Amino acid sequence: MQSLQEKASEWSGVAASDAFAIDETNLFQALGGLQPFVDLSTNFYNRVYADEYEWFRSIFAGSRKEDAIQNQYEFFVQRMGGPPLYSQRKGHPALIGRHRPFPVTHQAADRWLYHMQQALDSVSSIDPESKIKMMNFFRHTYCIFSCSWK
Ligand code: HEM
Repeated sequence: MQSLQEKASEWSGVAASDAFAIDETNLFQALGGLQPFVDLSTNFYNRVYADEYEWFRSIFAGSRKEDAIQNQYEFFVQRMGGPPLYSQRKGHPALIGRHRPFPVTHQAADRWLYHMQQALDSVSSIDPESKIKMMNFFRHTYCIFSCSWK
């Protein structure tokens, strides 16, 4: 039987070695701390909450934008070599379970990635090489909880 990791690689087209290149350098240190992560998540959720499609905006309607930003950047910080801010505040990330209430369809996942790519493109506090590593991680990870669609 294929492992979840293998399936995610196949569906996302991102090899595990590329997805986990984020673990080869400490991105939190390389980027100089918290601010680039705050920039990225703020830029991302500004786009998400202003999305032209109501069906996509409605997925996030139950959360305050400020909370969604903080949840996301704290998770990214801890996953990319920084202090465990997310777990200190909320416990285990358990992303599969935490996304279960939301309709993460193929279409929604594509839209999420689209906004993340746009956000990465417009944040100047992250260097180009780190952006590629982060995007590979996002593409692979979103597949872990949404690619067995559904
Ligand atoms: C595939 C498309 C995705 C959709 C539609 C989606 C949707 C959502 C929604 C609606 C929330 C609730 C907002 C909040 O209150 O925090 C959320 C939370 C979150 N998402 Fe996603 N997400 C997606 C992909 C991802 C990916 C790829 C990651 C990580 C690499 C991720 C990490 C998180 C985290 C850490 C939270 C906070 C969970 C919590 O503390 O409740 N999401 N997501």
